[in-house]
Amino acid sequence: MTSHLKKVELHCHLEGAAPPALTLAQARKYNIDVSEYLKDGTYVWHDFASFLECYDKISEVYKSAEDYALLTETYLAELADVGTIYSELIVSPDHGKRIGLGADAYIDGVCEGIRRARETSGIEARLIVTGERHFGPDSVVGAAEYAAKAQKPLITGFNLAGEERMGRVADYARAFDIARDIGLGLTIHAGEVCGAFSVADALDVVRPARIGHGVRAIEDSALVSRLADLGTVLEVCPGSNIALKVFPDFASHPLRKLKEAGVRVTISSDDPPFFHTSLKREYDLAASAFGFSDAEIDQLTRTGIEAAFVDEETRQALLARI
Ligand code: ADE
Ligand code: ZN
Repeated sequence: MTSHLKKVELHCHLEGAAPPALTLAQARKYNIDVSEYLKDGTYVWHDFASFLECYDKISEVYKSAEDYALLTETYLAELADVGTIYSELIVSPDHGKRIGLGADAYIDGVCEGIRRARETSGIEARLIVTGERHFGPDSVVGAAEYAAKAQKPLITGFNLAGEERMGRVADYARAFDIARDIGLGLTIHAGEVCGAFSVADALDVVRPARIGHGVRAIEDSALVSRLADLGTVLEVCPGSNIALKVFPDFASHPLRKLKEAGVRVTISSDDPPFFHTSLKREYDLAASAFGFSDAEIDQLTRTGIEAAFVDEETRQALLARI
């Protein structure tokens, strides 16, 4: 349905994109029992907290730099196959440390996967380092400090993900100060599990260029106007929102309302196999569930490129392809 349209994705967690078949092969390779979290080719979770637990467990079967190269190359090849020209992957060097691989080897593996995918399909990709709220403010500062000193040119952004109900944005402000000081693009998960106040917090404390999800801003019309006035870009992931029951169905999802209120919106898949989705499905849903025309969908894609954390030359080259 949208096969003919070029696509970009600004919001996808690398380990969240792991195909179940690849995860199973990895689990067998390392003799790790994932049967509680992966059954009949499907990741098993039942609410946001158990999703995060499942995500962290599944991530543990990717252990070496080559595992990360393979995972990255596999996902980017899938994206390129459906017409995607640009992808930002949310990565967690802290996870690399936790599994004993080390942050540098983790990032180097991911960068090798990007290189291979680009060579085969021409897809461009950049990395957004994330801290995870549920590992606490010190670990989030550690992620920002890593991003600041790593000297990895493909790292161009900083994010905060994980359990949104843990702490307030202000608890993580120092990490964003570190990331801002070295010129990384800033984005933050807010207004997904928590209500409009978390989006207001993000604007008050961090003033990021983009917000991951942000959709519950719809609960506060003044906040929606503020987002529109500021030009803050929302990385909207409708399939994820429905899977996590942020909204009961697509008919009540506010993507169209936000766009009509002048908020700059884009579409992404978040953790596609966990939420039984894909970037292709999100684009198809933009047409079938939200009624956007091809021209409107191209506008979402253009907004994504305008808000991408890339150098101007790359941005112009990408825009020329839409
Ligand atoms: N980590 C992976 N997916 C996430 C999501 N949808 N929200 C917060 N943290 C995440
Ligand atoms: Zn996310």
